[in-house]
Amino acid sequence: GGKPGRPVPGTDFDAVPPNTTDAVTIPEGYGQSVVIRWGDPVVPGAPAFDFENQTPEAQAKQFGYNNDFVGLIPQDPLGIANLLVVNHEYTTETHMFPAGTYDEANPTEEQARIGWAAHGLSVVQTYRDPVFGALRAVPGRANRRITLDTEFELRGPAAGSRYLKTSADPSGRKVRGTQNNCAGSVTPWGTVLSGEENINQYFGGADTVTDPVAAARLKRYGFSGTESTRKWERFDQRWDIAREPNEPNRFGWVVEIDPHDPHSTPIKHTHLGRFKHEAAAVKITADGRVAVYSGDDERFEYIYKFVSNGKYKKGHSAHARRHNSALLDDGTLYVGRFTGDSPAAEIDGIGTLPGDGEFDGVGEWIPLAAGNKSFVDGFTAEDVYVFTRQAADKVGPTKMDRPEDIEPNPVNGRVYAALTNNTDRGAAGKGVADEANPRNGNKNGHVLEWEEDGGDAAALTFGWRLLLVCGDPNAADTYFGGFDKSKVSPISCPDNLAFDRHGNLWISTDGNALGSHDGLFSVPVDGPERGYVKQFLSVPVGAECCGPVVTDNLVLAAVQHPGEDAESSADPTSHWPDGGRAQPRPALVAVWRKGHFGLAGRIGVR
Ligand code: FEO
Ligand code: CA
Ligand code: CA
Ligand code: CA
Repeated sequence: GGKPGRPVPGTDFDAVPPNTTDAVTIPEGYGQSVVIRWGDPVVPGAPAFDFENQTPEAQAKQFGYNNDFVGLIPQDPLGIANLLVVNHEYTTETHMFPAGTYDEANPTEEQARIGWAAHGLSVVQTYRDPVFGALRAVPGRANRRITLDTEFELRGPAAGSRYLKTSADPSGRKVRGTQNNCAGSVTPWGTVLSGEENINQYFGGADTVTDPVAAARLKRYGFSGTESTRKWERFDQRWDIAREPNEPNRFGWVVEIDPHDPHSTPIKHTHLGRFKHEAAAVKITADGRVAVYSGDDERFEYIYKFVSNGKYKKGHSAHARRHNSALLDDGTLYVGRFTGDSPAAEIDGIGTLPGDGEFDGVGEWIPLAAGNKSFVDGFTAEDVYVFTRQAADKVGPTKMDRPEDIEPNPVNGRVYAALTNNTDRGAAGKGVADEANPRNGNKNGHVLEWEEDGGDAAALTFGWRLLLVCGDPNAADTYFGGFDKSKVSPISCPDNLAFDRHGNLWISTDGNALGSHDGLFSVPVDGPERGYVKQFLSVPVGAECCGPVVTDNLVLAAVQHPGEDAESSADPTSHWPDGGRAQPRPALVAVWRKGHFGLAGRIGVR
């Protein structure tokens, strides 16, 4: 398909066609380089990566595994010096260790400790080559690794709760580490919020719990079985629910990292509730308070909002960072209900456009708790914060198709949520399609936007509509914002979201159900090209695309788990990024426009 009229600023590039190449494929006229990959040195004294000879001590100083969220914090007006903050979501030990050295039934303690050190986040000083465009990781005083051994402070109304006390921490206020950090955001005050997502998979011993209340709580959060996949409970009792029944409650929070201060203690904010937080994104309210949006990424789970009581102070100073961070510990937690405006009969479960021409409607934010006050019958405030899913169940929110990243659009003020997929919708005994989740057997996901009433992030009501119902544009059950479907790139399983300066949405995908590789896509959300999805890059074999960061002259994409479809490291399916016969390594890639002095080449502008 050709380009209609004048292209929208930021999206004028030739779309990358769907493909299955073991490479990062970018548009004509663009350059790329790997910024940092698993095992590369981060902090002083870090040895060079040695796949054959890994140690926990080395990994704790090197870039961790499975990069997901990427935050870029400029340190000068040109964006030459930047702090980079990257999440390391999870480990796959069968790919991390040389063939024949990792026994899934009997991992060694050394291997478990390498896994702990490969989690968390990295803070990395970077330098942008102003002429050639590449972004390089360099030594810096802010460089830091946060791992499963780093001390975190629990804050907010549930800090010190009886549900959070363990034998290692009788105060219920100090947690060792963070895990399964998925998407996130850079706050307006220059810190990073990160969601602890699939926390359940690391714990053993759930099936020893017989108390029905405790067992129901574990089940609602997906804790199950005897042994965990990684068997960490053999080496540290905190991973054994039979011995440390409260340790699971100390994960599943939104964490905050201050990358400017390498000695700061990272925070877990209990007022934002405990669930499988995909991410957390801030929007300032009309009267200067702080709203935080977060999705719970599991089938039929909910979208939440927190609104602070106190007002935001502008700037990135140490004082502003401390002040604004404390705002997240005093406010109100809400859960969202999305109501359609077309008769249910018009939502036929295969995504056919309803009679009024749009998947749209209104919504409301239902309060769950504020400080020590609960709004949910039968739940104390402490219950609401620690067992948020069960509290939300009581107030009738909308069960969504796996809420992944949520991001406010800095140009039009609306808020966007990626709903990645839900193949269980419409299955026997499960919820059926509704206007906000309009497809049964939803393999390809959709993207929803809402506008808070009065444009105020503190509003308790909003209007919403779908931007995209993803999939093969030739299929009847897809919708691209009303744009001509013969011109768009196919897109499947939207996950992480970002906006460029022009207000175009950028979507990275995880789990392409159309047979080609995941990638990064741009889409205008206003004007005549609303819904015109174009693929900007594709990722290697077995990888999902995370990040992303889109500035005026740079795109960053995190390539997570290249080659994960392989049985083990004995037979790699991907050799990205090092090529040849190399083992695949999760890595961060920078993309810029060539043919101009680096910083002058504008993304998507010709
Ligand atoms: Fe870690 Fe919901 O993706
Ligand atoms: Ca409608
Ligand atoms: Ca995700
Ligand atoms: Ca993902």
